[in-house]
Amino acid sequence: MAKRWRIGLLGLGTVGQGVAKLVLDGGDGLAARSGFQLELARVADIDIDRPRDVAVDRSLMTTDALSVCTAADIDVVVELIGGKTAARECVLAALAAGKPVVTANKALLAEHGLEIFRAAQDAGVSVSFEASTGGGIPLLSSVRDGLVANEIRELHGIVNGTANYVLTRMLADEMPLDEAVKQAQQLGYAEADPTFDIEGIDSAHKLTLLAELAFHTPVDFHAIYVEGISRIRPADIRYAQQLGYVIKLLAIAKQVRGNAPDGNGNGIELRVHPTLLRHDHPLAAVRDNFNAVLLVGDAVGPVMFYGQGAGRMPTASAIVADIIDVARGSAAQTFKQLTFFHEGSRALRQAPMDEITTRYFVRVTCEDKAGVLGRVATHLGEQGVSVASIIQKEFGAPTVPLIILTHTAVEKNFRAALARIDAEPFVTEPSAFIRVEAEE
Ligand code: HSE
Repeated sequence: MAKRWRIGLLGLGTVGQGVAKLVLDGGDGLAARSGFQLELARVADIDIDRPRDVAVDRSLMTTDALSVCTAADIDVVVELIGGKTAARECVLAALAAGKPVVTANKALLAEHGLEIFRAAQDAGVSVSFEASTGGGIPLLSSVRDGLVANEIRELHGIVNGTANYVLTRMLADEMPLDEAVKQAQQLGYAEADPTFDIEGIDSAHKLTLLAELAFHTPVDFHAIYVEGISRIRPADIRYAQQLGYVIKLLAIAKQVRGNAPDGNGNGIELRVHPTLLRHDHPLAAVRDNFNAVLLVGDAVGPVMFYGQGAGRMPTASAIVADIIDVARGSAAQTFKQLTFFHEGSRALRQAPMDEITTRYFVRVTCEDKAGVLGRVATHLGEQGVSVASIIQKEFGAPTVPLIILTHTAVEKNFRAALARIDAEPFVTEPSAFIRVEAEE
């Protein structure tokens, strides 16, 4: 006989309705697979009258989320309100009342995680957040548990479905960015404010959580370098394609080995930005709203996770898995093993962007006249930036795009070279560049 497990659900929006549907329709199959008879015991939402796709008994619904957090007949609180204000208040109230919490709220955990995790630790309960990163992909549990034998060397992730959908449409259908964003919103992938998706903030929230688990360190979300896709021009997508590359919004984390013998120089680099990948890179084939994370462990080598990172049912799938994990008692055990948020836990240094090394794709718009190419190459060369390939498009116009692909260079040096290039009188508009993750 499956044991009853009572859920207090906060937020009956896109994902909330998916969770309600899985719980209400799951029936004996879910009970048999999990060992628990999940019960939607209370549901809070600011609007309980709005018609919804799932029939939740009206008597379970309330507009008072805090009352759900502290109700005696609730075994687990599932926070799907989103945002950082009401959600934080509710999560802290639930933890203070001794309720384990399941949440998909990456913004809340990336920016207030230490406070929330410590509150859970003090209350002796767990916070589970599989659905926060990679939606339906069992990603965080795999990094935390399945790969525990490994030291993670690096990871590259497409962790925002909206941005990936937009880039896919821009490439495949030559669709303008705004139109593709609207389509993603209609499909239910986008955040309430799509700026978070497009400007890379959502990816940085997810990178914070991924890196905390992968590198066992607290991460300062505000110190992550974040650049979104809003400045990507259709022309750059085309030029990149001609060179054999695609553009993806990537979340990147790499272990950085310092020289100090005591290991003090060791750290990590964390960044989110549009990135050129060779067309045969495994992440280049990840299209539409799909997410994928490719990570490298010292023992396992490269491992890739792929699936739907956004949307109602994929995200609900991860939420329900977390609820069952809590019910089984495993969440409490795994949460106790997480140490990155403990007082005094050693924080790895987050390398500033100036120090990173990567390759660059550069578009310089310049007058088409003798000596221009030489000057551009000289500025790069003087900063130690070596050119790998160069294309000048012949337009018959007074200005032409010069497309340059560099070898690996230090960011600070590359930027210094670009500032000198842009100061040249023959350069007619600020140059654009996109970082490239590709083997030499
Ligand atoms: N807005 C997010 C995305 C969905 O587009 O991936 C959930 O994290």
